[in-house]
Amino acid sequence: MMADKPLKVLVACEFSGTVRNAFNALGHDAWSCDILPAEDGSNRHIVGDARDLLNDGWDLLMVAHPPCTRLCLSGLRWLHTPPPGRTLESMWAELDEGAELFSAFWNAPIERVCVENPKMHRHAKARIRNYQEPTQFVQPWWFGEPVFKATGLYLRGLPALTPVDPLTPPVQKSEEGKAWSKIHRASGWNKDRWRERVRFFPGIANAMAAQWGGLVDDSLPMAA
Ligand SMILES: C[S@@+](CC[C@H](N)C(=O)[O-])C[C@H]1O[C@@H](n2cnc3c(N)ncnc32)[C@H](O)[C@@H]1O
Repeated sequence: MMADKPLKVLVACEFSGTVRNAFNALGHDAWSCDILPAEDGSNRHIVGDARDLLNDGWDLLMVAHPPCTRLCLSGLRWLHTPPPGRTLESMWAELDEGAELFSAFWNAPIERVCVENPKMHRHAKARIRNYQEPTQFVQPWWFGEPVFKATGLYLRGLPALTPVDPLTPPVQKSEEGKAWSKIHRASGWNKDRWRERVRFFPGIANAMAAQWGGLVDDSLPMAA
């Protein structure tokens, strides 16, 4: 359904346009921002540091999602034993940078904020200003996409998402289950492969636009 009152939406850290396009399709005024150019060549994309745009009067900030390699639980081991060719100091410095970027978005002067990020380790949580646990972990299959990928949504001023057209998940170790997990199993991190691994899910993006795009009525209940 088209929006009664279009919202001004900033989608930070997005080159794919997935979330931007989902909001614009419902009549909102959505812009993506990334230090990379838009993959679809859209003229509703700003190339640069999204932190420089946070004071520009947005109704809704979506961050989908900031670089998380040093913040997420799966990266914890590198803080004890750095990968070949890297120093421990550089690992901890990148953790500080990642936490600072997350903090800037999470504490932005915008009423409604969603930051998407995997589960974080304790060193990341300790560095993030006003850290709160994610409101929910969603899965692409809750929104009709045959993929397993737990996606944490850190929400401020927004209610949890409700599943739309959920699928029935297969047993994870079955052949079908392995196919659903392929996003985790994809090996390599070459120029093109990394884009596929970080690209956002259209089903979740559509649910965000449909369920959060109508929240202009202040009487609606909001998460803290
Ligand atoms: C994990 S990827 C997210 C990609 C996103 N899910 C999509 O579908 O396009 C993180 C993105 O954050 C961008 N990025 C990193 N620091 C940024 C900053 N300060 N401002 C804007 N974008 C930034 C990177 O260039 C990268 O594209």
